[in-house]
Amino acid sequence: MIDGGRPLEGQVAVSGSKNAALPILIATLLAPGEHRLANVPDLADTSSTLSLLGRIGCPSLTGTHVRVDTTRVAYWEAPYDVVRKMRASVLVLGPLLARCGKAVVSLPGGCAIGTRPIDQHLKGLEALGCRFRIEGGNVHGVADDLRGADVHLDMPTVTGTENILMAAVLARGTTRIHNAAREPEIVDLANFLKGLGAQIEGAGSSTLVIEGVPRLTPASRPHRIIPDRIEAGTWLCAAAVTGGDVTVTDVEPGHLEAIGAKLAEAGCEIEAAGTTVRVRRTGPLRPFQLRTLPYPGFPTDMQAQLMTVATLANGTSTLEETIFENRLLHAAELRRMGARIEERGGMAIVHGGTLSAAAVMASDLRASAALVLAGLAAPGLTEVLRIYHLDRGYEDLVGKARKLGARIGRVSDGERDHDRMLAATAAAA
Ligand code: EPZ
Repeated sequence: MIDGGRPLEGQVAVSGSKNAALPILIATLLAPGEHRLANVPDLADTSSTLSLLGRIGCPSLTGTHVRVDTTRVAYWEAPYDVVRKMRASVLVLGPLLARCGKAVVSLPGGCAIGTRPIDQHLKGLEALGCRFRIEGGNVHGVADDLRGADVHLDMPTVTGTENILMAAVLARGTTRIHNAAREPEIVDLANFLKGLGAQIEGAGSSTLVIEGVPRLTPASRPHRIIPDRIEAGTWLCAAAVTGGDVTVTDVEPGHLEAIGAKLAEAGCEIEAAGTTVRVRRTGPLRPFQLRTLPYPGFPTDMQAQLMTVATLANGTSTLEETIFENRLLHAAELRRMGARIEERGGMAIVHGGTLSAAAVMASDLRASAALVLAGLAAPGLTEVLRIYHLDRGYEDLVGKARKLGARIGRVSDGERDHDRMLAATAAAA
């Protein structure tokens, strides 16, 4: 529940990156022993990943550092009930095949934003000598003898690159992954793997070259997960939509360049210094054109949040989603708040104006963030339903928003009536 219409101001510390933490937690399977990781965000998805590791025999402890013990792998299956909830579980394929020579992983099926196939993952792993059969909705994989190979990806898939990379580090010989994803989360995974003794060149470029090694061992020092550039970008959008002044801290400004450039185009003032980025909105928002692309292009995970910015601009903006086939679901909910948005295929045409408070329904992680931003901008009480989507990717969003002056609270199902909603938001004051 949000009582919106007031500027957000102040500093907010950004947590570790969800999309770096998930592959790195799973990569611990490649090196038997105890691993320690710093700056792992406390999210539903990281908890799901730790419980998946627990189910296959690798216990963990959370705290300042997350400790994972992968001495023993007793089981090599990622069942449907886990993969259905968190698609990134398919990342166990590469490590389990490299460690145990076999893996059974449920096909992820689709999700709200698209069909999410894993054909590129399987094609790349097959090039390394893995053999797969699909049975009962599961992928059954075996790998008797992993050998390096040249892999040409049809698109720079992020988790596809990660799955193949994690198998290649223990394959015999040289692997080259062409058209690899270049996201900072790939670079962080590669740095973690190098800390275990892997030999990887070209992380962050579109060609990864991996010299396989016979074994990997846990790093002597904890690996620190990079900051979450999407969380950071979301807070910067909060400054834009509320006419505020927000500084995100503990970030890598270099990861935020495409996002910052778009907010500058929309009329915000951007200031990067050290590990902070500040966004101030000093005048009316201007319309902009946006097209999502693989890194270093504009990230698809920020498209929904920028759509909320566009609904408040003086003029017509266009947002083209080129990565996922169904990632404009937030448009319908923003219309409930008075936004004027036309959809043509993967393109949204947004005629900017004002937003008015309403009850809206979250459909996926980043759409929920866009609706929270809209609630922060619109005067009055906005209720965002199915808020569990947010818990997958944003650590303590309510607490952090309150620190910036937002009047926001969680309203449990039992507290539906108006007065209690007011109480929940007033408590935030
Ligand atoms: C990763 O998903 C991220 N998730 C996503 O973040 C992010 O939106 C996406 O990359 C794009 O940046 C994690 O890292 C855990 P892709 P991923 O494979 O790897 C198609 C969030 O909100 N494709 O790069 O699943 C696919 O359908 C999440 O944090 C194939 O066709 O995305 C999509 O259209 C959402 N075959 C496109 O490629 C394949 O084998 C890009 O997908 C693989 C992908």
